[in-house]
Amino acid sequence: MIDREILLAKIKTTPYKPMKGKIIEARMLTEKEKFFRIELEGKINLSHEPGQFVMVSIFGFTEAPISICSSPTDKGFFDLTVRNVGVFTDKLHKLGRGDIVGIRGPFGIGFPIDNMFGYDILIVAGGLGIVPLRSLIRYIMHHKNDFGHVQILIGCKTPQELLFKEETKEWMRRSEIRMNCTVDRADPDWHGNIGLITTLIPGVDIIPARTYAVVVGPPIMYRFVIVELLKKNIPDHQIIVSLERRMRCGLGKCGHCQVEGVYVCQSGPVFNYSQLRSFKGECHEKAV
Ligand SMILES: Cc1cc2nc3c(=O)[nH]c(=O)nc-3n(C[C@H](O)[C@H](O)[C@H](O)COP(=O)(O)OP(=O)(O)OC[C@H]3O[C@@H](n4cnc5c(N)ncnc54)[C@H](O)[C@@H]3O)c2cc1C
Ligand code: FES
Repeated sequence: MIDREILLAKIKTTPYKPMKGKIIEARMLTEKEKFFRIELEGKINLSHEPGQFVMVSIFGFTEAPISICSSPTDKGFFDLTVRNVGVFTDKLHKLGRGDIVGIRGPFGIGFPIDNMFGYDILIVAGGLGIVPLRSLIRYIMHHKNDFGHVQILIGCKTPQELLFKEETKEWMRRSEIRMNCTVDRADPDWHGNIGLITTLIPGVDIIPARTYAVVVGPPIMYRFVIVELLKKNIPDHQIIVSLERRMRCGLGKCGHCQVEGVYVCQSGPVFNYSQLRSFKGECHEKAV
């Protein structure tokens, strides 16, 4: 059996039982975010889609949803990047190389890659949103002939908060990628843009019918980014957004992640704007 079949069989029979994951690399990327490279027991591949997440647990304690930030084309390991915001993530930050965590998943619907083949891609990342998008960017780089032009816009509060600094420099050097970063507050060493990420969108050069825009960031960011993308005439179904909700089971059982009767852990976290518009209240009214 291939890895994916083994994995699916495992999830099907024991959806609540975590697999063991060994941390093979751990390092701080910024003051608050730590990067983990994880190898599953038996060295099986996670076989995820970019945009999916796993439930990460510390045995005997608790678990939390974390996006996978490596590409499925990165074999033998997968990557996570975790911001220290509370009890669980603080405990996770104390772990290092050789420590074991629990892994359930992959869960959720990822970015609609099959529909995106042949299209130009505009990626818009706000803050921690670059984490799941790194998975997509790495995937596109490994399949560059399957996609058109790629533009990446990254926004964060300060230059110190920019994630994957070395990798973003490499993305900038690649001829098939056009990249632009902006910060809300600069320091003397910053030579990029200053201002909100929305200010970069009017300047992007796209053919709307041929472009998929993929947006991940905090709600306040993606709401205003969607407004700008609509002004660019990108069709609703080609605007892709990943929603972060509180999650517990990841399996459509507990209801923690529900928006308007939709279980985000099962039907999302990735949605297109046509779907978002149908979530009355929560997303649509505040988005436009
Ligand atoms: C699909 C999905 C993917 C995610 N991917 C990542 C990721 O790649 N990296 C990462 O660092 N975090 C990610 N998160 C958020 C992460 O799950 C939470 O930060 C974590 O559960 C907080 O646990 P805690 O015990 O440390 O914090 P708590 O002590 O529970 O809370 C501390 C603070 O974080 C806020 N918080 C807690 N849970 C969430 C949540 N689910 N969403 C937003 N705010 C929350 C609380 O309101 C509180 O202000 C993701 C969440 C989801 C739903
Ligand atoms: S997290 Fe339990 S139903 Fe979605």
